[in-house]
Amino acid sequence: MKMRSRLRDFIEDERIIEEILDPHHKTIMIIGGADAGKTTLIECIADITSRQTTTAIVDLDVGQSHVGLPTTIGWGKLDGGFKGWEYIQVEDFYFTGTLTPSGNLVPVLVGTKLITERAVRSCAKVLIDTTGLVSGPSARVLKQYKIDLISPDLIITLERAWELQDIIEPFINHSSIKIHRIPVPSVVSLKGIQRRSQYRLERFRAYFMDAPVIRIPYGEKGIRFTGRPHRLAISELKDRLVSLRDEMNRDMALGIVEGIDPGDRTIHIRTPVDRPEEVSVVMIGVAVLTL
Ligand SMILES: Nc1ncnc2c1ncn2[C@@H]1O[C@H](COP(=O)(O)OP(=O)(O)O)[C@@H](O)[C@H]1O
Ligand SMILES: [Mg+2]
Repeated sequence: MKMRSRLRDFIEDERIIEEILDPHHKTIMIIGGADAGKTTLIECIADITSRQTTTAIVDLDVGQSHVGLPTTIGWGKLDGGFKGWEYIQVEDFYFTGTLTPSGNLVPVLVGTKLITERAVRSCAKVLIDTTGLVSGPSARVLKQYKIDLISPDLIITLERAWELQDIIEPFINHSSIKIHRIPVPSVVSLKGIQRRSQYRLERFRAYFMDAPVIRIPYGEKGIRFTGRPHRLAISELKDRLVSLRDEMNRDMALGIVEGIDPGDRTIHIRTPVDRPEEVSVVMIGVAVLTL
């Protein structure tokens, strides 16, 4: 079993720890590159704060998701310490249709706003995990606008070599956002691309295991695309990840497109959705998935 990391493995400065635990600092956003220890730091903070107050984790990492599935932005509540991600129930999720924010900034930012708002409404402490995308113009735009949307009380960056300078520097004079930049602990290990895609596949396999294929009459439902629209041609839609939304425009469940039957005008979707009759919109993502 993995040794449980402690907050003091990350942060030596007691004043920063006090600020993290201070109830006045409700929303705390963690930013850093891939394998910087962001998620582990969130575990350590949540383990302490959830023993004292209602704590939410908002997972904006659409690639290495821990609350909810990859391609989604999700949030969950913790009570009485961090026991493991599998114990955190997803309260709400928003399908972005993508495994990486690059080229898909709009759904990622909209999901960021909607899901964070819900977590903030129901919990006293909100810890926000983010993607490891930190270099290049698209990362800079994404992170800076996420900061605008969330308006966190505290930002903790985990950095190896000042790599967040371009993203963070313009915010240093804001009195409403405190920023602490801390080094990536030397014990943090690199997962690498292969382990990351393996992790995603395992999460999807567990979710879609035993899920039936349902037929949805596409003439009677709304069809939307999270990215650039395509015709409803099977060659283009097969294996696309989709989300099924209800009448309230809330995501109910994810699915995978198995095919389209132009004869009876149905789209065939593998999905564990509970109440298929309540599906009102099929959101077609850009990500494809073969299990
Ligand atoms: N303080 C720590 N002590 C030991 N291992 C750690 C520590 N922080 C992170 N790790 C390990 O390093 C790897 C990357 O950490 P993770 O929190 O997943 O990073 P990120 O969320 O930034 O991608 C993981 O395998 C994790 O178990
Ligand atoms: Mg992570």
